[in-house]
Amino acid sequence: MKISKICCIGAGYVGGPTMAVIAQKCPEIKVTVVDINEARIAAWNDENLDNLPVYEPGLDKVVGEARGRNLFFSTQVDAAIQEAEMVFISVNTPTKTYGEGKGQAADLKWIELCARQIAAASDSDKIVVEKSTLPVRTAEAVKDILSNTGNGVKFQILSNPEFLAEGTAVEDLQQADRVLIGGENSPEGKEAIQALVDIYAHWIPRERILTTNVWSSELSKLTANAVLAQRVSSINALSELCEVTEADIDEVARAIGADSRIGGKFLKASVGFGGSCFQKDILNLVYISRSYGLTEVADYWEQVIKMNDHQKGRFARKIVKSLYNTVSGKKIAFLGWAFKKDTNDTRESAAIYVADQLLNEKAQISVFDPKVKYQQIQSDINYLQTRGKEENGALLESVADPYEACKDSHAVAILTEWDEFVQYDWKKIYDSMLKPAKIFDGRNILDHEQLREIGFRVYAIGKPL
Ligand code: NAD
Ligand code: UGA
Repeated sequence: MKISKICCIGAGYVGGPTMAVIAQKCPEIKVTVVDINEARIAAWNDENLDNLPVYEPGLDKVVGEARGRNLFFSTQVDAAIQEAEMVFISVNTPTKTYGEGKGQAADLKWIELCARQIAAASDSDKIVVEKSTLPVRTAEAVKDILSNTGNGVKFQILSNPEFLAEGTAVEDLQQADRVLIGGENSPEGKEAIQALVDIYAHWIPRERILTTNVWSSELSKLTANAVLAQRVSSINALSELCEVTEADIDEVARAIGADSRIGGKFLKASVGFGGSCFQKDILNLVYISRSYGLTEVADYWEQVIKMNDHQKGRFARKIVKSLYNTVSGKKIAFLGWAFKKDTNDTRESAAIYVADQLLNEKAQISVFDPKVKYQQIQSDINYLQTRGKEENGALLESVADPYEACKDSHAVAILTEWDEFVQYDWKKIYDSMLKPAKIFDGRNILDHEQLREIGFRVYAIGKPL
């Protein structure tokens, strides 16, 4: 079966970049990305490529090449479903905030709505591809809805989870370590798998396209994120031990990462991992394990989250403690608010939780982030509902100039590893601060020796004082 038209429901951080790369690499396929969020679609269609709703290095070029040729962004969901032979579901699957499984299970409301909409809008057979991250066995529910509410047409369901990381999305998509496709082991299932393999084979070497059964594919996505997050929590746990033993976490990470069985990647100690997925997916894994009665399995993975919460909390406590146990009315500069560099995404960013703890102590926080705007910062902190909006507005400001953020502050905290922070004139920053001037490097990116020579007191993650 040859695919000539694709529809993707959900024009977010995954749907947008993924489909842009498919369109770029497969010029003969018409790719239409649809969303109910009109503002988002308008931004994807903005003539000025700087205004795309997702900031990713290189994405403007890919969108610029394919948009209007064979890549389209639209709010006409039904029309795009109807004409496509293959429909990707790439909508959000956040943690449930109500009812059974609140705070742990994935909220599949939007997935079910998509399935019902696909069934209602389809008058020809289709391949439906789960691109969103989903609990294992979700395809069963999707299939049930599609086959019972449709117009008698046939659906094949594939699982094709996405492994891109934000900030490197385009590179990750163009040079994926692997693509995973799960499908049914029937002649129709195999044909559907082959149709999707053929799309990726335009640019991914065939041996990197893995095919499995649907359940392995669904579960592999949750567990890939769990294992990655576990590495970060492991190195962060060791960072606390380093701080009391005068070992240096970067040296320890290099030493253990040199073992080819361990590998050097993803061992960077930090203020804690953030992002929309690690916590959500582990909580989901914990919930699923518990629902099968696997208490030890659930407890094991839950510890990864507990360690991460501890790391964020102890970073904030360290700031308060070293500022003589009181930060009330003191200006503290935050460099970075995004959950990692090269993205404007702030979901679950460690900065939000560190700020919240310092605001509880009545600190005055001034934030500079090269890609995050004031409104987003306020919305992130207000979402926690720890205090009223007015108080958050009065205590938390954001400025467009990093030197302005640091001026007259008692301390500077690095929350995101933006490259430009390393290049700043740290002597100029030191001169503008109150003394003793303190730096809390939550990402271990600065030259600590040089900062100490300037006169700073430097506190880093997993390093001797
Ligand atoms: P997102 O919130 O950025 O985008 C989801 C979009 O879906 C939103 O724009 C929303 O308006 C739209 N939507 C929801 N219901 C809809 C409907 N019924 N019809 C049309 N549009 C609808 O989310 P995201 O970050 O792109 O994540 C999507 C999925 O991909 C999640 O399951 C996530 O776990 C997974 N994932 C995310 C990443 C990442 O880096 N963000 C990476 C891999 C996998
Ligand atoms: C992560 C995975 O890396 C992707 O494979 C996956 O597709 C994605 O989640 C998803 O499912 O959403 P992402 O969250 O975008 O990608 O970014 P990562 O590079 O994984 O970083 C996550 C967090 O861990 C960031 O806050 C980062 O700063 C932190 N981190 C990462 C560390 O603190 N240390 C490290 O060594 C690596």
